[in-house]
Amino acid sequence: MKIALVTGGTSGIGKEIVKQLLSNECFVFVNFGHNEKLMLEAKKEFEEINYNFECLKADVSKEIEVFDMFTKIKKRFGKLDYLINNAGTNVDNYIENFNIEEFRKILDVNLVGKFICTKLAIPLLKKSKFPCIINIASRLGTKPCPEASAYCASEAGVINFTKSSTLELSKYKIRVNSISPGLTNTPLAMLGWTSEEIKEQKENNPMSRIGEPIDIANAILFLISDKASYINGENININGGSLLI
Ligand SMILES: NC(=O)c1ccc[n+]([C@@H]2O[C@H](COP(=O)([O-])OP(=O)(O)OC[C@H]3O[C@@H](n4cnc5c(N)ncnc54)[C@H](OP(=O)(O)O)[C@@H]3O)[C@@H](O)[C@H]2O)c1
Repeated sequence: MKIALVTGGTSGIGKEIVKQLLSNECFVFVNFGHNEKLMLEAKKEFEEINYNFECLKADVSKEIEVFDMFTKIKKRFGKLDYLINNAGTNVDNYIENFNIEEFRKILDVNLVGKFICTKLAIPLLKKSKFPCIINIASRLGTKPCPEASAYCASEAGVINFTKSSTLELSKYKIRVNSISPGLTNTPLAMLGWTSEEIKEQKENNPMSRIGEPIDIANAILFLISDKASYINGENININGGSLLI
């Protein structure tokens, strides 16, 4: 059985990734940072599929918590096949109004968190036959916007961190890729958008809609499969073509 860890797996994109992995014969460690209520709700949905999962609380930006999480994974299976670095956060603010702590927290969770999980996953991934890491970045990592400087900087960092990881980890046969979703229908994304703004986003998208978590989860299933065995160091945009506009 393949063993996966999905960070931020209790909501939005991460939750759908977990569901698809459970439906495709994986055992999934479902990480979350803080929200126990959200975790319990997600757990019920996962149990409708099967019981091949374990929820693990750990703030990905805190090395000691992530270390404890990997100790549990090591104890239970001694290996990891797939690390899906998905946990992320955002606060919209103008540079003039951002305080340093707020800015730093976004970088810590979105970028440093992926470094910590990658570093601690390497020994377990080395025990897998076909290991891979997928980092969830964002369209804003290559097409930045105002009022989200910390988020845009962190996601640009994730895209390049992915490529550095590829160059270092290919010698262990660990493939590393990133996925950059466009606007996707999740609690994080919908926060702060009016229905008028969403309508506008849909109208401006070549496919006349915004993304759904399943659009991202389907790409994950492909990237972890043998069919993607020569895809390495890529950043795959999934946005219905909106990056072209
Ligand atoms: N939705 C979009 O439009 C969109 C577009 C581009 C990229 N993305 C990226 O896709 C990823 C998922 O986003 P989403 O929209 O699905 O978000 P979401 O619905 O808000 O879910 C975020 C998940 O991350 C977890 N999380 C947050 N901070 C964490 C931390 N410090 N440690 C561990 N887990 C943490 C949350 O759990 P807790 O609350 O319990 O911590 C939750 O499970 C993010 O990396 C985001 O940047 C999203």
